[in-house]
Amino acid sequence: MTQDELKQAVADAALAFIKPDLKPEVIIGVGTGSTANLFIDALAKEKDDFRGAVASSEASAERLRGHGIEVFDLNDVDSLAVYVDGADEANRKLHLIKGGGAALTREKIVASVAKTFVCIADESKAVQTLGAFPLPVEVIPMARSAVARKLVKLGGNPVYREGVVTDNGNQILDVFELNIKDAEAMETEINNIPGVVTNGLFAHRPADVLLLGTSEGVKKLT
Ligand code: 5RP
Repeated sequence: MTQDELKQAVADAALAFIKPDLKPEVIIGVGTGSTANLFIDALAKEKDDFRGAVASSEASAERLRGHGIEVFDLNDVDSLAVYVDGADEANRKLHLIKGGGAALTREKIVASVAKTFVCIADESKAVQTLGAFPLPVEVIPMARSAVARKLVKLGGNPVYREGVVTDNGNQILDVFELNIKDAEAMETEINNIPGVVTNGLFAHRPADVLLLGTSEGVKKLT
């Protein structure tokens, strides 16, 4: 199977996973990226069976609206039963690296509100140790170089993602060569650097379920 077929398989599996919970009052958290886009397209088939969605990016909000799904501001929502999103890397503890699409901050916020975080990914994203994918860090623009110097002290090699402005008006540093042995400690340490909005490690709030698309079928990891 191609990577796109594996992404489609996990998007469909995520829809099957959440289907029993769809009710007219339910609002669903929806992530960002090519796998999340396939989930949005699948979700559209059930749009009359739930109330709407909270999106983790302007791009996903636009796609949802394009399907006629109502998009809610998170400030107007008390709780989310489920959040469905992709990842750039996932380990066996369901710790993730996210932010390849620069939406990490809103993704982390929406995931933090959801009761269940369902991560959908093709098997190329499954790793033993996080960090081969450069860790995205969202930074306040005036702090970019200062944050980069601190990241070098942590052993990383930060590279400015030129031309990218996040939905929050900030910039992204992609940090190569980090040795992420303790993802929770690294998440905290980087988030404590002044000027960092957040980093793409999802370790303190990992996924609850990983639907992994493999050539032998979709595997459900918890
Ligand atoms: C966006 C993300 C995405 O979930 C991640 O980059 C995976 O994307 P894709 O599904 O296109 O491989 O974190 O910020």
